[in-house]
Amino acid sequence: MMNFCSIDDVADPIGWIGKAIELQKKIENGGPLDKSGKSICLLFFNPSLRTRLSMQKAAFNLGIESFVFNLSSEGWQLEFEDGVVMNGSKSEHIVEAAGVISSYFDAVGIRSFASLSDKANDYAEQVLSQFVKHCSIPVVNMESATLHPLQSFADMITIEEYKKVSKPKVVLTWAPHPKALPQAVANSFLQWGNQMDYDLVVTHPQGYDLDPSMVGEAKVEYDQKKAFEGADFIYAKNWSAFQDANYGQVVSQDMNWTVNQEKMNLTNDAKFMHCLPIRRNVIATDEVLDSDSSIIMPQAKHRITSAQMVLKEVLEIK
Ligand code: CP
Repeated sequence: MMNFCSIDDVADPIGWIGKAIELQKKIENGGPLDKSGKSICLLFFNPSLRTRLSMQKAAFNLGIESFVFNLSSEGWQLEFEDGVVMNGSKSEHIVEAAGVISSYFDAVGIRSFASLSDKANDYAEQVLSQFVKHCSIPVVNMESATLHPLQSFADMITIEEYKKVSKPKVVLTWAPHPKALPQAVANSFLQWGNQMDYDLVVTHPQGYDLDPSMVGEAKVEYDQKKAFEGADFIYAKNWSAFQDANYGQVVSQDMNWTVNQEKMNLTNDAKFMHCLPIRRNVIATDEVLDSDSSIIMPQAKHRITSAQMVLKEVLEIK
């Protein structure tokens, strides 16, 4: 076994340089060494279970090598503003970071949640859009400030698989949560749901109205029980306030909005969905989550399906 701690560990440094120059030509001419696949960098500013593992599994299924980078805890702090004198805490500019990542990989996935403190920056998608601007490779949104399209794609696949009528009533319901969460999953679910032939309803307490451009043609109903009547799918999710004065805040933790069996009994034998992770007996009761109506496991499994489809398309894999 050899170490590589200094040049002293290299018996033939000149020979190594010659071999390295040959290697560089091989890299430039053919992508990953001795492998037929492509490579993707999965870059996380925030935690994940499903997104990280489903992307890695999807990449594995396609013969793509995936490289996970937890940038917030392991990378340099990035500067996203242009023209800044970088004499503060941020060590690297997005221009160079995106350029380097683009030169190493065939695609990059970005997870960067909303700040929930700066609505303008969040809804301008500052982080994601800067990666898109400065990367020369495809960028995949692994949940950005305002959207989570990989989740919604999986959600739609799941609804299509389980629907029993051609135009199901699909209800997105707000549910309580102790922490302030972004609107990304709800926004994205509504965006995708609006593209489908669904009777789409969103129900939430007063003060939790979402961006009207995301709500689209969905019906807004403030009475949760009324919304549940005749529903074929109940999709529970918490989100924090979108409205300017309370942006990003928890304005209600009303446990009367928890999804329980009594409310599920008002539906048309609806399937229960949630993107996970879920707080049991806060968002929905154990009884609902452990019932035959719950399809949260197949829904989570479809995260691999949606990821694999997206990777296949962005990397043009036949
Ligand atoms: N639903 C979802 O995106 O799960 P993770 O946050 O665990 O990735």
